Amino acid sequence: MDDWIDYYDSTHTIYVSKAHRDAHFRLIANDIARFIPDPDAVVLDYSCGEALFATQVAAACGHLILAEPAPGVRGRLSSRFKAEPKIEVLALDALKEKANASIDLAVMISVAQYMTPAELDDALVMIRRLLKPGGTFVLGDILRPNVGAPTDVMALLRFGARHGFFKDAVIGIMRTALSDYWQLRQRVGLQRYSEAQVIGKLANAGLVGTLAPVNVGHNPARMTFVARTP
Ligand SMILES: C[S@@+](CC[C@H](N)C(=O)[O-])C[C@H]1O[C@@H](n2cnc3c(N)ncnc32)[C@H](O)[C@@H]1O
Repeated sequence: MDDWIDYYDSTHTIYVSKAHRDAHFRLIANDIARFIPDPDAVVLDYSCGEALFATQVAAACGHLILAEPAPGVRGRLSSRFKAEPKIEVLALDALKEKANASIDLAVMISVAQYMTPAELDDALVMIRRLLKPGGTFVLGDILRPNVGAPTDVMALLRFGARHGFFKDAVIGIMRTALSDYWQLRQRVGLQRYSEAQVIGKLANAGLVGTLAPVNVGHNPARMTFVARTP
């Protein structure tokens, strides 16, 4: 396993059970839907993962682009949503073909930590190009520099307790500790950014970002930024 895209394309154990996976993707879909500006909006979910509840997001907007780099995940998205006229599944590279100023809302949730800083910069420039004037970009689940794995573990246990998978979360955390995840986390690492660094990166791409009061998803120790074209 060479990188995080390979990891997400493998039979990984990041979701400890079906209940966890469902609770996670339902929460993310609800959080994305909160940012949709109007029912005709064109929405881009950049590195969407399995996006199990994308139908709910699509119901609240005009068109939903699910962009995903992992080929196996993308294949499942294509078959899962083939009967959904509002959902388009694309590889990240295919976003280069999309017209300037064609998207109202772009979201990138729990992805920046897996990208190199240069990959993130390139993605931000592309998202800036795709956003319509007045469009919104939500950059979520950013890891802070000084918050380590124990905080993630506690957040997952609390999420499990709230959604009925606490026992599976305990077992899953132990299984993940022995899995490819930790080897990759130690070898390739996860990128962490301070609030000022993220706002600086957004500004370099031509976006004005602010820290949102709450993070998207289940982990309150991580940060979400809402950015707009100036
Ligand atoms: C934790 S999942 C997040 C999925 C979804 N956004 C969510 O919030 O549930 C991480 C996602 O990042 C993608 N990813 C991993 N490395 C990446 C990279 N270098 N560039 C772009 N996406 C990457 C994976 O394929 C996966 O879809």
